[in-house]
Amino acid sequence: MDITKRPRRLRSDGVRPLVSETSLSPSDLIAPIFVDATTDERVPIESMPGHERVPVSEIVSRVQEVGETGVEAVMLFGIPEKKDERGTRAWAEDGVVQRALRKISEETDAYVIADLCFCEFTSHGHCGIVEEGAEEDPHMTVDNDATLELIERTALSQAEAGADMIAPSGMMDGMVATIRDALDREDFTEVPIMSYAVKYESAFYGPFRDAADGAPSFGDRRHYQMDPANRREAIREARLDAEQGADALMVKPALPYLDIVRDVRETTDLPVAAYNVSGEYAMLHAAAEKGWLDLEAVARESLLSIKRAGADLILTYFAESVASELSAGN
Ligand code: PBG
Ligand code: ZN
Repeated sequence: MDITKRPRRLRSDGVRPLVSETSLSPSDLIAPIFVDATTDERVPIESMPGHERVPVSEIVSRVQEVGETGVEAVMLFGIPEKKDERGTRAWAEDGVVQRALRKISEETDAYVIADLCFCEFTSHGHCGIVEEGAEEDPHMTVDNDATLELIERTALSQAEAGADMIAPSGMMDGMVATIRDALDREDFTEVPIMSYAVKYESAFYGPFRDAADGAPSFGDRRHYQMDPANRREAIREARLDAEQGADALMVKPALPYLDIVRDVRETTDLPVAAYNVSGEYAMLHAAAEKGWLDLEAVARESLLSIKRAGADLILTYFAESVASELSAGN
């Protein structure tokens, strides 16, 4: 036998942990939560088992539940009491997100990240102000620069309400610079921006659009979210947001785009976040329900793979369940 190199030597129980290259901890995870102005009770989200929309009155206990699993950061999404063309409830001082932010920051130590977009707040479900005639003409889209103005207002209202971090997700050009300028001008110099810098126009967002009631009523998001075919463009997007002052860069979705997570990791020295989106969650749940996959095991493996690809932080609907397992020492 002349096999001198035997990688299996490092796979025995005593040594495996010593040579493990990647680790997963509750402090890497951010749990998305939904606050809903249209309900007084928690409403389960059918396509995302274990998740619910909660009223403002329940938001503190929801955040505390997350905290008990060891996850100390949450990403807040809002469903407003009413929607209109411009999404005005997104920046209202008494908007659902603003009320929730105040409560969470007054009553908990959680780190709250405010998602900043308009699709949950607009009657047409697009991520900003749509150009006149867009409903009839598929070539028309969201007006980038007009939307920046609303982004500025919304970022300030979220910071004033106590958001620890702002996460713009609308894929408008210049959104990071606009927010950074506004925050600095109003003395929120310490509030970081995590940009959804590389967000693809993905079919994996389906369950979320039901959950947050934000599906576009006409057309799609291909004129502002990225084409799934593109890789070099991801690097361009990441660089632009870094230049504009982003403090962390996100890639979304995660699992079908791990090559992009790796690319962004290698182009920037900023922290890289990846969003393990609703469809990635729903498909594992659906298969597990049929008895085809072991849910806890595939969830863990997914998150570990996202870290191995180069993500420092992960937004995931598995945050609570995986963190509980990790905290229990499993
Ligand atoms: C809205 C937004 C979306 C998600 C986060 N923010 C959906 C979209 O762009 O349609 C997706 C989250 C998920 O699927 O889990 N700007
Ligand atoms: Zn949006």
